[in-house]
Amino acid sequence: MAENEPLPLLLLNGPNLNTLGLREPEIYGSTTLAEVVRDCERLAAELGFGLRAAQTNSEGEMIDWLHEARGQVSGIIINAGAWTHTSIALADALRIPEVPVIEVHISNVHQREEFRHHSYISPLAVGVIVGLGVNGYEYAVRFLADHLSPSTED
Ligand code: DQA
Repeated sequence: MAENEPLPLLLLNGPNLNTLGLREPEIYGSTTLAEVVRDCERLAAELGFGLRAAQTNSEGEMIDWLHEARGQVSGIIINAGAWTHTSIALADALRIPEVPVIEVHISNVHQREEFRHHSYISPLAVGVIVGLGVNGYEYAVRFLADHLSPSTED
């Protein structure tokens, strides 16, 4: 057992993602955000990480959380919803914790409207997962746990 627990992962969801499961299920599926969070918590725990999860429809609140995350989390998974395509302020805030960021989109934004093709977050993200449904969140947890774990030294 490692003596030093790693800092938790932070899973953030932006506007309208609280309605997952209800909202346009043909695009976003029928899984709820509570189910996504539960599955990610379980997986993170199996991989030796805690996971904090939060969703907000308020951009300022998300920015405040990112300020508070500095020194408190080891990596960030974010589905910023429509702010992805609009918010320089959020992209700036994502740089503040100075930890790896994985950008997740449930739908394949590149097959959708032109305005969804640009992301202010992608340039600062270690990686981007798009179009793999809600499973993308768990893939992000797996990647970060692997990326953050010290190679094989014990
Ligand atoms: C989304 C894609 C965004 O364009 C959209 O505004 C969302 C959800 C996705 O997960 O596919 O709210 O981030």
